[in-house]
Amino acid sequence: MDASDLGNDLTQVLLDEAAIDTKVRELAAQIDADYAGKDLLLVGVLKGALMVMADLSRAMSGPVEMDWMAVSSYGAGTKSSGVVRIMKDLDRDITGRHVLVVEDILDSGLTLSWLLRNLRSRGPASVEVCTFLRKPDALKVQVEPRYVGYDIPNEFVVGYGLDYAEKYRNLRVVGTLAPHVYS
Ligand code: XMP
Ligand code: MG
Repeated sequence: MDASDLGNDLTQVLLDEAAIDTKVRELAAQIDADYAGKDLLLVGVLKGALMVMADLSRAMSGPVEMDWMAVSSYGAGTKSSGVVRIMKDLDRDITGRHVLVVEDILDSGLTLSWLLRNLRSRGPASVEVCTFLRKPDALKVQVEPRYVGYDIPNEFVVGYGLDYAEKYRNLRVVGTLAPHVYS
């Protein structure tokens, strides 16, 4: 879906396809270099990370392994509750593995900080985070991702995997949703 299909649902396009593509390639090159010679496991956080995982992993040079977790902290609203539930756990043991968590967005940080604690308790060799987007002004708990695509303003965004009530994930750009859509 392109932004032009949306009528006035978006107030602004923050990142167009070119901006997304450029950044994904940059991140992939950095990750390739940093993990050269290491056995890397990419852990995508469903469902938001699906687009960045697809693009990032294909921009990387090695045959990386992927696994997925689904956690829930938002319900149908637009604010993190801080209560995290594992809806789908990893398929494989991560003991001794180099894990890179791939996230769509770091907002309050509540979900990721919980997830990192959970993953670190499983005895991996390392756990780092690659988040495509970050809202620095929304951060409530300390989370320091090794890789960040773009810092964005503290507004609810959709597209490139990010949803509102499960819609808009297939939007090719990242944009801010018009208030009339959710009020
Ligand atoms: P927190 O606040 O715990 O966010 O860092 C965790 C997850 O919530 C989703 N999220 C968003 N989804 N637009 C969305 O469509 C947003 O602006 C937004 N902020 C947070 C996202 O899945 C993130 O991983
Ligand atoms: Mg997410």
